[in-house]
Amino acid sequence: MTAASPRLEEVTPDTVLEACRLEVAPEQRKFVSPVAQSLAEASVHPDVAWPRLICDGDRIVGFVMAFFGVPFDYDAGVPDAPPRSGLWRLAVAAGEQGRGYGRFAVGAVNEEIRRRGGTVSTVTWHPGEGGPEGFYLGLGYRKRGLTADGEYLGDLDLTG
Ligand SMILES: CC(C)(COP(=O)(O)OP(=O)(O)OC[C@H]1O[C@@H](n2cnc3c(N)ncnc32)[C@H](O)[C@@H]1OP(=O)(O)O)[C@@H](O)C(=O)NCCC(=O)NCCS
Repeated sequence: MTAASPRLEEVTPDTVLEACRLEVAPEQRKFVSPVAQSLAEASVHPDVAWPRLICDGDRIVGFVMAFFGVPFDYDAGVPDAPPRSGLWRLAVAAGEQGRGYGRFAVGAVNEEIRRRGGTVSTVTWHPGEGGPEGFYLGLGYRKRGLTADGEYLGDLDLTG
């Protein structure tokens, strides 16, 4: 089955509990924080965080959270490095993976970055077997290096 007509939706009082029940596969938990944690972080960073549900029909199939306009430790010492925007969290439910929802969510976030005038999309990921590195590289992100937390940083030029 492939994604029919996925869309992003804001989290509402009606959907917040179902969103918090969203699970990746057990062996993937080390690669992404729980949705409840992301929503807690979003609530204290309202100017920066953009949390959205990935929905298809009446199903919540995933969660994505973008960040907009944040200085990065990775760029410390780089003169005039602009603040970064990109993917903060991305999780597609274990039973919904491999249907194009992840690709859709990244595209939708990057469209929003463009809409706000951004030209680069940034993401960081934990290295490791079963992790998302191949997914991001397959979407065109270039691996740039390591952050202070030991995560890989990748970015994608949105001007092309
Ligand atoms: C990584 C993740 C978001 C991918 O979502 P998805 O909906 O399964 O991905 P899609 O179906 O959109 O896949 C798009 C392409 O990426 C490939 N792909 C997906 N996951 C991959 C992975 N882990 N490694 C390599 N390639 C991968 C798919 O095969 C597909 O390739 P194709 O276009 O050649 O067919 C999902 O597996 C997930 O939620 N993982 C656990 C949490 C996680 O690691 N989040 C990222 C935190 S930074």
